[in-house]
Amino acid sequence: MDLKVLEDAGQIAQAVSQIIIEGVSKKSNSVLGFATGASPVPTYELLVRAYKRGELSLKDVTTFNLDEYCGIPADAPQSYRSFMFENLFGLTDVDPEKVNFLNGNAPDYEAECLDYEGKIVRAGGIDIQLLGVGTNGHIGFNEPSDFFTDIPFAVTLTESTKRSNSKYFPDGRVPDYALTMGVGDIMRARKIILIATGESKKNAVKTMAEGIITPQCPASALRLHPDALVFADRDAASLL
Ligand code: F6R
Repeated sequence: MDLKVLEDAGQIAQAVSQIIIEGVSKKSNSVLGFATGASPVPTYELLVRAYKRGELSLKDVTTFNLDEYCGIPADAPQSYRSFMFENLFGLTDVDPEKVNFLNGNAPDYEAECLDYEGKIVRAGGIDIQLLGVGTNGHIGFNEPSDFFTDIPFAVTLTESTKRSNSKYFPDGRVPDYALTMGVGDIMRARKIILIATGESKKNAVKTMAEGIITPQCPASALRLHPDALVFADRDAASLL
């Protein structure tokens, strides 16, 4: 894992969007793993600008999102599908036919997760996986646990994650369950980029980068990856 401390979220977005633009220019049919949440938004803004300037086309990429809530309509404003169309897919030439999300309303979560894993494998695996990190060290919705997960699965969200995400729900009530890629899926990506910005991430960044590698801090697994880049701003890196 390579940790880079940059001044602020803007500089991180510049660096991360550049890596993605270069990756897609070398391989137009790249398989990209995307995250939602606040961390990647400045990067998505720069990708949209690059698209509008004619410097990026995403028409041939296949995408896999990390996770999705269970039990809310796919087109609800809080769904991660809606988030991605609002912030990136709907503003660029991403082909909606090549976009993949876990279906949080599937009748059988286990079958849905196995199907998603099959789709990732059939796409040839993920070239670049973008990640944020939770204040508790989670990646995707892989919460602190006694073991590292592998393939997609259904998860009960922790109170801390529900608290962090309650700002996106008008009634403050976050769904109890979500479907998420496993840590194994993330680790099988050929390149991983994690963005950590703001003071609230400082403990997670310290544990991820300097603590023991443990499923109690799922992000610590990235230290075992041959091409994982962590971008932290000064606030997120302040305990290092
Ligand atoms: C989102 C996801 C989460 C977030 C994490 C950080 O798809 O998988 O792991 O990346 O909760 O969220 P933000 O960026 O909102 O601080």
